[in-house]
Amino acid sequence: MKIVIEPDLPTDSDDYNVISEGVAAVANVSGMTCEIGLRLGGGTKTIIDTLIETKQNKVHIAIDPYGNIDYIETDDSTRKLNYTNQMRNQCLVNMYMYCLTLEAPFLFFNLEDTEFFKRFSDGVPIYNEYKTIETQYSFIHLDGPHNVESLLIEIDFFHNRTPVGAIMVFDDVANYDHGEVHDYLASLGWISLKTSPRKWSYIKTEKA
Ligand SMILES: C[S@@+](CC[C@H](N)C(=O)[O-])C[C@H]1O[C@@H](n2cnc3c(N)ncnc32)[C@H](O)[C@@H]1O
Repeated sequence: MKIVIEPDLPTDSDDYNVISEGVAAVANVSGMTCEIGLRLGGGTKTIIDTLIETKQNKVHIAIDPYGNIDYIETDDSTRKLNYTNQMRNQCLVNMYMYCLTLEAPFLFFNLEDTEFFKRFSDGVPIYNEYKTIETQYSFIHLDGPHNVESLLIEIDFFHNRTPVGAIMVFDDVANYDHGEVHDYLASLGWISLKTSPRKWSYIKTEKA
């Protein structure tokens, strides 16, 4: 098997500044950072790079099933996109090489979003000299399934585990009815922070 060392950790989309600006903006908000949908690591690298640049000592977690299962690409289309276990192995070699260099606290969960939510609803155990249970998230990049139904489930999970000031970023907002997602977020007290053609961010406010 040929292993490609890819220190750049490739991205697959645009407007990653929405992620880096969002991570920088949660410097005073407590909780882990999280990416749903790791692929080859580009989004997670952006998050970790910004955590380091802004001197935030936070655990970052990524959740991805790989396994070349059917991928929900839009509200109307589900198909295989070659997110294989081989891709997972390739990504993790590079990801952990990168973390080794930077000493970044990164944990990977080889699960779908919904399986993670079932198993870690009461927090994520962290082992670093001693054990802690992290129950809060300060920043989340939602880049797994791109349909409204899945996104509303993800929003519910993170809404209940985020402090005021937390930020969520949605990728590929043109792939689904983002208006429905926007309205649901507004009903929970999340307001639009930054918009771009591919990614939109929202910040949690005190609900009126
Ligand atoms: C668009 S790619 C992610 C790109 C990556 N965030 C980046 O910025 O480079 C989508 C990823 O979501 C993963 N995925 C598919 N279904 C998922 C689910 N139910 N939960 C979490 N991740 C999922 C796929 O395996 C794939 O790696």
